[in-house]
Amino acid sequence: MSWREFWNRQNTIYVNDRHRALHDDQVARGICGLVRTPADIVLDYGCGDASEGETVATKCARLYLYDAAPTVRARLRERFAGTAGIEVLGEEGLAGVADGALDLIVVNSVLQYVPKRDFEALLDGFRAKLNPDGRLVLADIISPDASALGDIGALLGFALRGGFLVAACAGLVATFFSDYRKLRAQFGLTRYGEDEMKALLVAHGFTATRSPVNIGHNQTRMMFEARPEAK
Ligand SMILES: C[S@@+](CC[C@H](N)C(=O)[O-])C[C@H]1O[C@@H](n2cnc3c(N)ncnc32)[C@H](O)[C@@H]1O
Repeated sequence: MSWREFWNRQNTIYVNDRHRALHDDQVARGICGLVRTPADIVLDYGCGDASEGETVATKCARLYLYDAAPTVRARLRERFAGTAGIEVLGEEGLAGVADGALDLIVVNSVLQYVPKRDFEALLDGFRAKLNPDGRLVLADIISPDASALGDIGALLGFALRGGFLVAACAGLVATFFSDYRKLRAQFGLTRYGEDEMKALLVAHGFTATRSPVNIGHNQTRMMFEARPEAK
């Protein structure tokens, strides 16, 4: 099984409905905080189930949702059928977004599942789709020296604050025996140092800064904001 196949199947990453709801709410609020004007056109790349997509859509003119997993896209299409301002894209739809059309691209908690060579190709695509004043936000980036203990600590803190600590502890045990752990051991997670990520962004035509806070609950991970360099 690959990471893509993993995300295309049912998984137990979210330990219960409350965890999922709090996570989706936090991510949506994070994305809302990045939208600059109600006219913005936004792409949430690798959006997952995005159950709070409507919250984001109220802040911008159009929200494109794209996820590599066909089963995720099918759920998104069902959830957002007829929702004004949200369009769920497949591969062709994504390729068909006009160059220069996007004001903001958010990629949250995705790049750890993407090989580095594929990420470099993605960067060129993102660069083309952004308008000259647009921004690319890469969030939840795992540094090479981050440990699984940091992820566990962040989850338990989130669970304590969110009132799902017991479920989170049970979820950690379940994860230990899950496909996720096997895949993590087999393929690992793609990691970037701060300087490495900035250098990659520059090499692909962006200026880049590290943001002081990450989207979501895990502040051991990094977020970067990149803008197309003037040609
Ligand atoms: C941890 S979830 C994050 C979902 C969402 N961005 C969030 O923050 O809740 C990772 C998502 O990335 C998607 N994904 C993995 N590889 C991808 C790729 N190469 N392109 C687009 N999506 C991808 C998976 O299908 C999955 O839905």
